[in-house]
Amino acid sequence: MDVTCILDTPIPVQVIFPSSSRMENTEAAYVASSGMGAITSCILQICESGDEIIASRTIYGGTYAFLKNFLPKLGIKTHFIDITKINQVKALVNSKTKMVYCETISNPLLEIADIPALASITKKHLSNLLLTIHSRLWLSRQLNWGPIL
Ligand SMILES: Cc1ncc(COP(=O)(O)O)c(C=O)c1O
Repeated sequence: MDVTCILDTPIPVQVIFPSSSRMENTEAAYVASSGMGAITSCILQICESGDEIIASRTIYGGTYAFLKNFLPKLGIKTHFIDITKINQVKALVNSKTKMVYCETISNPLLEIADIPALASITKKHLSNLLLTIHSRLWLSRQLNWGPIL
């Protein structure tokens, strides 16, 4: 297998993927060279036409624009809510919901989502629903709190 370099460093994917996974205590890890590269490829891998996303209304502007302006062209609808109000998430979850997306800590408003509470909702609907966290803290091991991605 060819060795691919990430971020122009000589670190091969065979090293950086498993190392990141071990540091974050996850089953697997993927490393991208930009935040939007990671976010868009993750969402496009998981969601398809007819799916719905529940997202925090205070996420990074580029991600907000992607969810609000680009995904509807693919038939994917996003509900933007106050992620600190768990009842808003509960009220919107339905059979079409594929993902709950939030950041912790959010950029730029520094909002903090209740990850275990969100994870308990998504776990109830695990067959079709993922909790995706964009973590701003390296080594924060957010997935220990219950999210899938
Ligand atoms: C929460 C969040 N998501 C996405 C991005 C976009 O990252 P990039 O500029 O590497 O594409 C940023 C960048 O600051 C960010 O803070």
